Amino acid sequence: MRKLWIGLQFLFVVFGIISFASCSDDDELTSQSGEETIAIQGLSENSVDGKIAIPVEETPASAQISFKNQILPIIESSCARCHTGNGPGATHVLFETVADVSAYAFAVAAVVESEIMPPWPASDLSLDFLHDWSLSQQDKKAIVDWTRSGSAIDIDPSTKVIATDGINLLVDYDQELFPIGNYDGEKGQTDEYRCFIYDPELTESKYLTGYQFIPDQTEIVHHLVGYRVPKEFRSSADQKNFSDGQGGWSCFGGTGLGGGQIATLNQMITIWGPGTGAIEYQSGFGLQMNPGDFFVMQIHYHYDIEAPEDNSSFRVKWNNPGSISPVELVQYFAPAEIPCSTDEAGPLCDRNATIAARLVSYEGEGVQADTILGLCGYTADDFAHMTEGVSSSTCDQPAQFDGTIVSVLGHLHNIGTSFRMTLNPDTSKERILLDIPKWDFEWQFNYYPTEEIKIEFDDIIRLECTWDRSLRPSDLEPSYVLWADGSDDEMCFGIIMNS
Ligand code: HEC
Repeated sequence: MRKLWIGLQFLFVVFGIISFASCSDDDELTSQSGEETIAIQGLSENSVDGKIAIPVEETPASAQISFKNQILPIIESSCARCHTGNGPGATHVLFETVADVSAYAFAVAAVVESEIMPPWPASDLSLDFLHDWSLSQQDKKAIVDWTRSGSAIDIDPSTKVIATDGINLLVDYDQELFPIGNYDGEKGQTDEYRCFIYDPELTESKYLTGYQFIPDQTEIVHHLVGYRVPKEFRSSADQKNFSDGQGGWSCFGGTGLGGGQIATLNQMITIWGPGTGAIEYQSGFGLQMNPGDFFVMQIHYHYDIEAPEDNSSFRVKWNNPGSISPVELVQYFAPAEIPCSTDEAGPLCDRNATIAARLVSYEGEGVQADTILGLCGYTADDFAHMTEGVSSSTCDQPAQFDGTIVSVLGHLHNIGTSFRMTLNPDTSKERILLDIPKWDFEWQFNYYPTEEIKIEFDDIIRLECTWDRSLRPSDLEPSYVLWADGSDDEMCFGIIMNS
């Protein structure tokens, strides 16, 4: 949240300027050159019909920016999806009409210039993805120039803003699942990660072909990681559920049910974040679930405000086996080994002490650091020299699937700074699948390539991650940071969904 908070503080300043501007009794300003006066409408909410002149001679290039032809299309393709109707950003800033956009013009420019909005962490080095709502440098410049030159509106301010690529909804679904047990967030922390059981009560094997997570208390539901969990884990889930008196249980890096991230079946199947709509697999494909299998949804609550008990649901669409081929999710890893820097000291800077302490906190589970080092052929010594406060790791693994890529995602925790997953690195067939140069834990998406990318068994997948210890909360005891389930631990993995 740190970045957005800075964003907010910045916006207070900006809004201060807006209200200052609209309080002035001068609704008609004359350009400093005095040569030309262009009447425009909609400077702010308070002066929708006001007229203002832009200093045309001073900014000749920007004066030509047409709201109707250049700015509105950007807002409709890159912002409206989340900032209209019940969109996830609408509780903060609503762009229902052109007048709204105009009223927020300075804020729009501020968040665009600082790259806080639109949230799209994948860089252009990645594959091309569906629903890519990121802005080109040209679009960014157009927005900033338009604002600097007075935010002129050359269209009726009451014109509705219509998303060109709205959030798609699951129109027909077979079941709407609710968590077994609700949680009202009384633990008093700003951020809570809580796992809930969502049971489809399957009596026969089925294929999940589509789904949609429906956040209930949208002001606190921040994002979600969804897992498909085999029936073997059900008794352990039932034991955890309500163990602290409320529905669900506290969890972070995984479900906390054992088997860990690397168990092939206890698998992360989806990530939901603001802007994510329904997911429907290509026709003919589905994710297999057997009788007794269930979902565990890890919901990240962020409490800026008090909210009633949350009852978010998960809508699912099934198909019977026979007509369907399975999609497979394959996880690829790299170690996360981030030693204390030379200016930190304390007992937990010792790696073994950290592992021991984590195992105690997580009841013997949820510390995968050594397994991953082993998988990638490293030892902790390979990272011992990274004592400058920043750390990096990489690992090449053989592809575990023959087929086509449906989607890719990357996952690190809070002190991650970059992520990259590459197919066949250092060969003529190299393709960077997903490149996230500025990792942002708040904005994790499944990315769906527009192009058909094939993977074969002898292909290589390379993972690369970096971390920065200065992003650790300063009140935390100095500690070696390694791959484990806690929010102050780290991870580095990518998931490729194949069909
Ligand atoms: C994927 C959904 C999404 C898209 C696309 C999006 N926003 Fe946002 N926006 C949000 C959410 C959610 C918030 C609230 C902050 C948060 O919770 O992270 C927000 C907050 C804001 C804020 C308030 C900033 C603050 O610090 O509180 C502004 C202004 C804004 N968005 C403008 C835009 C503009 C302009 C665009 C397009 C260029 C855009 N947004 C695209 C989801 C989105």
